[in-house]
Amino acid sequence: MTATILDGKSLSLQVRTQLAQEVQAFTSLSGIVPHLAAVLVGDDPASAVYIRSKEKACREAGMLGSVTRLPATTTTQELLSVVHNLNADQGVHGILVQLPLPAQIDAVTILDAVDPAKDVDCFHPENVGLLMQNRPRYLPCTPHGIQQILAAYKIETTGRHVVVVGRSDIVGKPIAMMLAQKGPTANATVTICHSATSDLPAICRTADILIAAIGKPQFIDASMVKAGACVIDVGINRVGDHLVGDVAYADVLPIAGSITPVPGGVGPLTIAMLLKNTLSAARMQVG
Ligand code: GUN
Repeated sequence: MTATILDGKSLSLQVRTQLAQEVQAFTSLSGIVPHLAAVLVGDDPASAVYIRSKEKACREAGMLGSVTRLPATTTTQELLSVVHNLNADQGVHGILVQLPLPAQIDAVTILDAVDPAKDVDCFHPENVGLLMQNRPRYLPCTPHGIQQILAAYKIETTGRHVVVVGRSDIVGKPIAMMLAQKGPTANATVTICHSATSDLPAICRTADILIAAIGKPQFIDASMVKAGACVIDVGINRVGDHLVGDVAYADVLPIAGSITPVPGGVGPLTIAMLLKNTLSAARMQVG
């Protein structure tokens, strides 16, 4: 058996084409172009690549994607003032502060300062709280992208065992809760594993759906995957001059039932979901 490749790239193109039509309809009715304002501090090369692809995706969807670029030496106060200005700017509907931030910046203070109505990343505690209570204002982009892949490929989640490897605020924690909640592409039994989990391989082997989000290149090997399982690889790790996921893709491919490639799996959906949130932000702000 060889696994079905879960093609996030082509799925994201479909989503973005549909979204471009919705943006056009919204703009022709309201006269407003949805505007995502990104803030990039420093010159981390991976972040610079993400920001450029976000700008391009905004343009292609008929939205405005602006970027405020700040030096690596920026202080928390200076960044706070940029965030406050974007909060106050009625022409800005969505705000994204690219992570990671340089060490001297207090990231929690910055993310807490983003107006929750413009928080298209869904990082603000108010939006995280709403999500936890299953009444989301926004869905976080990477977890939402994972749900879109599962839905598009009709991968059953109800009653199935999902193992999430990684407990980050961006992916591990929110995807675990979103899949455990009542709702479409949810209703799963979820286990969260992390660096202190005992016998991680044995728990992973019980997964019907295994989500790798730990940021360690090729950490999930063939011995950790049940035959026929769905494997979702959230990792994007640079090894030498190429990108690899958190899953040893070639080794797992003959065992899994389905698997996301890296690149071309979850990543493209994250950007598509960010655009979706920006359109909803504009809709909510315009009323
Ligand atoms: N850095 C890596 N992933 C993300 C993300 O989803 N949002 C932001 N703002 N920064 C990131």
